[in-house]
Amino acid sequence: MDFELGRDELSIDDGQYMAFSGITYGLHVPLFGRSWFERKQAEQNRKQTILKEACGAIRPGRLTFILGPSGAGKTSLIKILAGRKQTGVSGTVVGGGSGIVLVPQHATLIDTLTTRETLLFAAALKLPNASRNERNYIIESVSKQLGINEVFGTRAGKLSGGERKRLTIACELITDPHIMLLDEPTSGLDSVSSMSVSQALRSVANSGRTVACVIHQPSSQLFTSADDVILLAAGKTMYAGAITDLPDTLKRCGFVCPNYYNMADFLLEIASGEHSGNLVQLEREAKQYALEMKKIAESNVQQKNGKDPSPEAEALLNPSSSYETKRYAAGFSQQMRALLWRGYIGALRDVHLTQIRVVTHFFVALLLGALYQGAGQDGGRTVSNTGCLFFFLLFLYFSNAMPTIHTFPVEATVVLQEHLNKWYYLTTYCLSKILVDLPIQLVCATVFVFPAWYLTSQPMDINRLGLAWLVCVLITILAQTFGLVVGAACGVKLGLFVIPAANIPMLMFSEFFIPYKEMPSYLQPFALISYFRYSFDAFMQTVYGFGRPKLPCYKIICLFRDPKYYLEYLGLSGNFTTDCVALAIWILLLKTTLLCVLRYRVYKACK
Ligand SMILES: Nc1ncnc2c1ncn2[C@@H]1O[C@H](COP(=O)(O)OP(=O)(O)OP(=O)(O)O)[C@@H](O)[C@H]1O
Ligand SMILES: [Mg+2]
Repeated sequence: MDFELGRDELSIDDGQYMAFSGITYGLHVPLFGRSWFERKQAEQNRKQTILKEACGAIRPGRLTFILGPSGAGKTSLIKILAGRKQTGVSGTVVGGGSGIVLVPQHATLIDTLTTRETLLFAAALKLPNASRNERNYIIESVSKQLGINEVFGTRAGKLSGGERKRLTIACELITDPHIMLLDEPTSGLDSVSSMSVSQALRSVANSGRTVACVIHQPSSQLFTSADDVILLAAGKTMYAGAITDLPDTLKRCGFVCPNYYNMADFLLEIASGEHSGNLVQLEREAKQYALEMKKIAESNVQQKNGKDPSPEAEALLNPSSSYETKRYAAGFSQQMRALLWRGYIGALRDVHLTQIRVVTHFFVALLLGALYQGAGQDGGRTVSNTGCLFFFLLFLYFSNAMPTIHTFPVEATVVLQEHLNKWYYLTTYCLSKILVDLPIQLVCATVFVFPAWYLTSQPMDINRLGLAWLVCVLITILAQTFGLVVGAACGVKLGLFVIPAANIPMLMFSEFFIPYKEMPSYLQPFALISYFRYSFDAFMQTVYGFGRPKLPCYKIICLFRDPKYYLEYLGLSGNFTTDCVALAIWILLLKTTLLCVLRYRVYKACK
């Protein structure tokens, strides 16, 4: 295999057998259209069994195809083998490990990155010690093998369905995993592309890796490119073993494949019950084979661990305990560098999130300047200037919270997939997201606050301007994190409702509409958690606090020309530092929540 060259940093160790037996997977099926109580009672008793004592083996150095009619449980099986499904599963898996990579049926790519950049990102994380030339060589070889070298400069979002699929596979191929499980890598591809994908997988298998893929309706040529096959029918294994042994086994069980007939079609017909024969014996032989393979897998594990396989070490559905393989190829700093690189490219190319946001901030600042011109220096317009300052915060909050709702949902599947395939830690991803967003947040706040401050005639004192900028940056970061959390927890549809709904109470208790002292005492604690209250208070201190002299009055009477008296009247006599600390605590809490939400999503994905 040509793209094996240059991989000297990844020593290809002895092959790894993976044998599984008695895999049973069931779930409670939700029932709709009845009352909640009736449904709950019925669901207790209604358990759908998807896999029924499925068994088989995936051998190293050989390409294994998993076949079966639609709904037979193929995807469920490989998810279980990859440790992505744990609830409701029982059975034995010997010889797994943390080096398992699962390539899902649907491509998971960041749309703003080109094919080359996507592969470079994967290479940076999975081949951290390779030189730039080695990485480029591997990338080119893999993409040539999969036929995507022609679209190197095309963004993933613009690739065809087949190309997206091949790029997803290429990303995992360059990472050279110990065990590779793929769900329908050839579906949606023409026969030539399917063969090239199969050949690439075969090359990986030949290098000593363990490769299995679910295949839907393979052509004769594609079918014979595999070495082993596992046939599933309604959750049971009907055949597991070498393709070369298939005709004899079928014959023994009373199934004779007609001449010139596609063997894969024949197998699917057997699994669908269209041919008469001894299905019980077929299943029994599969179990027998799985048992033999289990013994080999056990001794394989024993060799690698250098100790006897205890019953616990059989590691039933806890593949990571079978034997330790290298987990994350790249260290924290390498992960961070790669994620920041990808994040910045994405942010610069994401018109909605970056460019439009910056431009909007500037235009709103101009509009605000035109509307409230001179309000900051006029003792007779103190009340309307307060409205103007509150609008500063309101605009910064909502214009930063709303666009970020879609950030995580767009990346969610990609991030989950990459994290589960051990590309990077979730913490690194979270930190990188924060660092990628930070310059954009600073630019947005700056582009807004300076012109708006000047045009609305707020005091042109460098200290006050600096403090105002600080409050604006804090509320911007808070808003963006809130948007990320809501997006990650609720998704876009619900998030669009949750953000305004959750912030209305925060606004009600901001002290802009009603002073703290006038609030009923049992509602006052709510004001203590309102970040709008802290930011409004800090902003008002910045403009009217810190010993600002009386404002000039151009009317007969200016009720609030004394800033100190005005702040007292509003009940805003908070401490600027306390306000900023409260905002910082809110930001910290939200960032922690974001990490927890992401962890929960990973937990749910593996449940
Ligand atoms: N989370 C779930 N909730 C309800 N049913 C499920 C769930 N996951 C799987 N199933 C059911 O389990 C059965 C097997 O699903 P699975 O996706 O493993 O099939 P498959 O063999 O991969 O099918 P296909 O070839 O169509 O992809 C299906 O009948 C499916 O409806
Ligand atoms: Mg499937």
